[in-house]
Amino acid sequence: MTHIKLPPGITAIDAPLAGVAVDTPAGSGVIYFNGAHVAAWTPAGQRPVLWLSDHTALESGKAIRGGIPLLWPWFGAGADEQHAPSHGIARIATWDLLQAEVSPAGTASIVLSLDGAAVDASLAPDLPRDFQLRLHIRMGTTLAVQLVVIAGEEELVFEEGLHSYFAVGDIQKTRIEGLDGAAFHDRPSGSTATQQGVITFSGETDRIYESQQTLRIVDEEWNRTLLIEKVGSKQSVVWNPWIDKAAAMGDLGDDEWREFVCVEAVNVRDQSITVKPRSRHLISQTISVE
Ligand code: BG6
Repeated sequence: MTHIKLPPGITAIDAPLAGVAVDTPAGSGVIYFNGAHVAAWTPAGQRPVLWLSDHTALESGKAIRGGIPLLWPWFGAGADEQHAPSHGIARIATWDLLQAEVSPAGTASIVLSLDGAAVDASLAPDLPRDFQLRLHIRMGTTLAVQLVVIAGEEELVFEEGLHSYFAVGDIQKTRIEGLDGAAFHDRPSGSTATQQGVITFSGETDRIYESQQTLRIVDEEWNRTLLIEKVGSKQSVVWNPWIDKAAAMGDLGDDEWREFVCVEAVNVRDQSITVKPRSRHLISQTISVE
């Protein structure tokens, strides 16, 4: 339930999860309060841009496989590989709707918030309780998602990311442009290397790239290029689980690895963020179809 008065173009939904649906002349989409999760976005006249698994859980308190999960305050199992749940608590917490507006051009502006005091303290005992998170979403012909982290009286140290799942016609006919020459950490092998040319996919890919660059996902099957611009992020993760890992994941169909690529704006490990008391930090990603 929401107590905010919703304008034409934004409607409340309560199943399978509580949230809002956007449907305007500029585009459509779905945002769940569980995790402030942008689960769908389709600009007018286009195919869906975000990918969502047919096998995902859509239950309060559970992570959603697809859309844009938020990574916060740790990435994966954290720098010490000891933290759970994977990718932190923001994506499984219930956020509040603060604002919902639609511009004359049909762009929906939605703001969600998460109050540290409302988060289950047992899941993140080291975290001060007086932080605030805000997610600003602008959904129309483009999609902009901005996470704002606001420290209370104590300093906040965290990893973070916007873990976007992009729909593609065929991962084997997809390439990522914009990372030529970037250093990367290969997570499966633990090695580091430098990217030579574009990224193509022929096996499990799970890499943290040191890069602030704008990236392009070039999808030959659907003859579409997605542009991903970002601010406040020093790294990009590129991930596809490929065949064996997909088969081992309960919320991913055996063949679904073909249908998506994750390109994530992050600040993790050596690039984790420190926010001084009563200060704030912003990370954002803007997605458009070229
Ligand atoms: C990526 C990580 O960001 O997320 C991968 O780099 C991980 O290592 C993937 O497998 C999915 O994580 P999760 O927790 O949603 O299964």
